[in-house]
Amino acid sequence: MCGIFGCVLQKGAVAPLIHSGLKRLEYRGYDSVGIATVFKGRIYLKKDRGKIDEVHARWNLNDLPGKMGIGHTRWATHGAPLQINAHPQVDCSGKVAVIHNGIIENFAELRDELINKNHGFVSKTDTEVIPHLIEENLKTGLDFKEAVREAVTKLEGSYAICVVYSGAPNKIISARKASPLVIGISDKGVCASSDIPTVLPLTNKIIEVNNGEIAVLSEKEVEIRRIESWERISRKPCEITWTLEMAQKQGYPHFMLKEIHEQPSRLQDGLRLQENYLNLLTTFLDRSKEIYLIACGTSYNACVAASYMFSNLCNLITHPVLASEFVEQYGNAVNIDSTILAVSQSGETADVLNAIEYARFRAATILGITNSIGSTLTRVARAYISQQSGPEIGVAATKTFTSQLMVFAQLALHLAKIRGKVSQNQMDYLTEKIQEIPALVEEIIQIQEKKIRKIAKKYKEKACFYFLGRGISTATAIEGRLKLLEIAYIPSIAYPAGESKHGPISLIEQGFPIIFVCPKDSTQKALIGNIMEMKARGGTIIAVVDESNDEIKKLADDYIEIPADIPELWTPIPYVIPLQLFAYYMAIEKGLNPDMPRNLAKSVTVL
Ligand code: M6R
Repeated sequence: MCGIFGCVLQKGAVAPLIHSGLKRLEYRGYDSVGIATVFKGRIYLKKDRGKIDEVHARWNLNDLPGKMGIGHTRWATHGAPLQINAHPQVDCSGKVAVIHNGIIENFAELRDELINKNHGFVSKTDTEVIPHLIEENLKTGLDFKEAVREAVTKLEGSYAICVVYSGAPNKIISARKASPLVIGISDKGVCASSDIPTVLPLTNKIIEVNNGEIAVLSEKEVEIRRIESWERISRKPCEITWTLEMAQKQGYPHFMLKEIHEQPSRLQDGLRLQENYLNLLTTFLDRSKEIYLIACGTSYNACVAASYMFSNLCNLITHPVLASEFVEQYGNAVNIDSTILAVSQSGETADVLNAIEYARFRAATILGITNSIGSTLTRVARAYISQQSGPEIGVAATKTFTSQLMVFAQLALHLAKIRGKVSQNQMDYLTEKIQEIPALVEEIIQIQEKKIRKIAKKYKEKACFYFLGRGISTATAIEGRLKLLEIAYIPSIAYPAGESKHGPISLIEQGFPIIFVCPKDSTQKALIGNIMEMKARGGTIIAVVDESNDEIKKLADDYIEIPADIPELWTPIPYVIPLQLFAYYMAIEKGLNPDMPRNLAKSVTVL
């Protein structure tokens, strides 16, 4: 997501320091950059779309005057990557500037309220409401600190912000709710950032800011308070010993592991999708005669799961199609009544873009789900929605799969509501249960990671694995297989379990490992039958299984438990987590670097 960095120096120019701090965030990916400083009662600001070096070449980011300022790398969520949408965002008077990482869920209501009070908005960002709220509070006579406090109490969603005000030349105010924020203390000054790498050149003395806290930075100290009670908190800095590389990975040995661990918070962001975009996509889907879900790799596997969601909740047939096969398989059948829902993390995958181009030529409607606002997919799609998983650096897609499923689940719920195919009770139940998914994923990672590592150690010499599941768990199985083969280079096979007896079962011999995906759902009885078939032929069973399912636990040689009572259609999100971790630890056991699998690129931009 976005990177924020604010700094108050005791002396010297702050802009070059912020500029070099932002360079340390480049590895995360971003589309725009901006810096604002305060000098002699005025805010100076430069921002633009593009890489830091390009924007610096265009505008010279170093010559902003003053010893206090804020800087931002933007990764678009609300509003395209344009200069106007880059941060800092300012109020009407140009006296308050804000940088933000997170998503303000209620920005549309707040913007309407502020427009009624004659505030003018220039960007499409959710962030812009914040400087205007602060401006409004300053007008009522509140001081800077209180004005920020009042503003953030109105915000729903997630945020880490840094605010500067031309009337307070030596203060940056930061606040945090559900987005990371750390303070760095040095004898040269005090800084606040979303990321430790930006702070490291200045200091290794760090203070964590907790959710619901505000930090007032001045050149020699920081004052931290609880936003609600206004109680002052005293917290001692701790010294960190991370290198730059360790800091970029937030202490994890690999980006892949960091991204697996990030899924609970990214899924929480995935529950903050903009209602108007969900509604728009739902309307297009509802009136479509023929729907193709087009994607590659992991995104395709998410489409397979989505096809079960749409048919079960909305009585809607959707065809998941590998993008590279689309033209040959369905090309002639595509026409004005066809809808293509293209799913691509990067929004730049050549096979996907090629399929879209073909379908556009035949007058089909193009819709998109992507992680990259501003990508080619978002430019050619009639409507699109962001999967909100934040920059993914590991070549193996992990949070992409779960975040895309979070979008699909909400689309299916919206469509089910319009179509009236699901009872109110069932809708309420599913809606409540989808909200629980981020916490469940957290629990699975916390409780099961060590055990999964041990299982990987035990099976590391196996030459081939089977992944089997029934119903929607077929998608979980094929995604688990893709992870294992792409990073641990273990040839693996995935099938719907029911199909295994039509051929693949011939591979089974004593000790052949089969990973079964076993939620307690409508397929359970049949799945137990498939497990018995494999056991009868000497297969070794590893089950990812509902914790309440003693029958399968008894049959399995090893099992990983998943909390009970998850609706069948939501199971791929929690059940894929152990498979991601298994693939990761298999790669580690084999001495491979999971972040850089051979022959693979993060974004495949050739046909
Ligand atoms: O950016 P996209 O979602 O379009 O990428 C699709 C595939 O290239 C991608 O999922 C690839 O298969 C990953 N290496 C899977 O981990």
